[in-house]
Amino acid sequence: MRIIGKKPIGMLGACVTAAIVLSACNTGDPVVGKQKSVVCQSCHGVDGNSTNPQFPRLAGQYPDYIVQALSEYKSGERKNPIMSGFAASLSKRDMQDIAAYFASQKSVLHVLKR
Ligand code: HEC
Repeated sequence: MRIIGKKPIGMLGACVTAAIVLSACNTGDPVVGKQKSVVCQSCHGVDGNSTNPQFPRLAGQYPDYIVQALSEYKSGERKNPIMSGFAASLSKRDMQDIAAYFASQKSVLHVLKR
């Protein structure tokens, strides 16, 4: 698990605690997110398990981490020429749906207890 510098706020904070029970965390729709993430899949892999080390694996990542990262690319707080372009077009809702999708996928790196 990666550590982020900032603490998630409000509802997202509750979701971190409830990460084991993802369904209790009504922040994103993984089915909608799968459709919205088609453009992301060319780099990050269809299920978020990128096979190219240039592109981080998103499968099994905490959804709030994904939303946070995307928000920071969009705001410019986190800088990457590729990702700021993609994040710019995403609404908060898009980020939450996409995060729900990738988070629900099994990471090939490790087995998550869910
Ligand atoms: C052209 C390839 C490409 C596409 C398409 C792409 N990404 Fe990325 N993504 C990257 C790269 C490269 C990085 C690493 C950037 C960095 O070092 O900050 C990254 C980083 C990320 C991160 C941060 C991961 C971490 O572990 O910190 C997230 C989240 C993410 N991308 C989500 C998305 C989403 C959602 C989409 C679709 C809307 C998308 N990406 C589309 C290449 C891509």
